[in-house]
Amino acid sequence: MSEILRADRVCRSFGEGATRVDALVDVDVSVHAGELTVVHGPSGSGKTTLLNLLGGLDRPTSGRILLDGQVSLGELPEHDLLAVRRTRIGYVFQSFGLIPVLSARENVEVPLRLVGTPAGERDERVEEVLELVGLAPHARQRPYELSGGQQQRVGIARALVTRPDLLIADEPTGQLDSDTAATIMALLADLTQRRGMAAVISTHDPSHIATATRRVELLDGRVVASVR
Ligand SMILES: Nc1ncnc2c1ncn2[C@@H]1O[C@H](COP(=O)(O)OP(=O)(O)OP(=O)(O)O)[C@@H](O)[C@H]1O
Ligand SMILES: [Mg+2]
Repeated sequence: MSEILRADRVCRSFGEGATRVDALVDVDVSVHAGELTVVHGPSGSGKTTLLNLLGGLDRPTSGRILLDGQVSLGELPEHDLLAVRRTRIGYVFQSFGLIPVLSARENVEVPLRLVGTPAGERDERVEEVLELVGLAPHARQRPYELSGGQQQRVGIARALVTRPDLLIADEPTGQLDSDTAATIMALLADLTQRRGMAAVISTHDPSHIATATRRVELLDGRVVASVR
């Protein structure tokens, strides 16, 4: 499958002098359409830092993140980077990140409102993705009326509704019990394959590595294994 995103000798440091932390050192990662890449490693190994860079939420200290082999995310002006984030990338969060006063369907609709999709098309798209994650019967419920697993399905539907080429999920199962987490991982793997989208997911749970088509293992900010 085709490469959509590539990290090329990426370094990310925080702070200066004696307090400097090298969170990522010379990281190379290749992300492909239709594949689920799982990033794993112990706490502090650099997973969140890497996902933030791959998702255009942060910029590398050195090295390049190339989208479609040409656009260097770290060098894009903020306005262009925002456009890339809104149209090409979907984000799923550990704490779901849903707006409490909105129903499931209204939460899913938010990214489409941000890019100005007309109302009729919004309704169709929202219905389609809620169906896809198995949440259509709960469309009118608010987050507090849903289980953790259901809330994360809303989070996934919201990430998919703009039809992104790339899905980024930092510990999307971190707040779920192990059975629910396994179901969510299986759903993400299935959606990645069916939609031909690329997904990069971090986890510290080794049992989730089996879901991956590619895995990247980090230790102290370095890639210690990269396996397809
Ligand atoms: N904004 C920041 N300022 C200073 N140091 C940071 C910052 N963000 C991350 N770090 C440091 O970079 C290293 C990697 O952190 P990161 O959050 O990427 O790890 P992680 O693998 O996601 O850990 P966890 O499994 O606990 O979520 C850590 O040493 C962390 O303290
Ligand atoms: Mg983290």
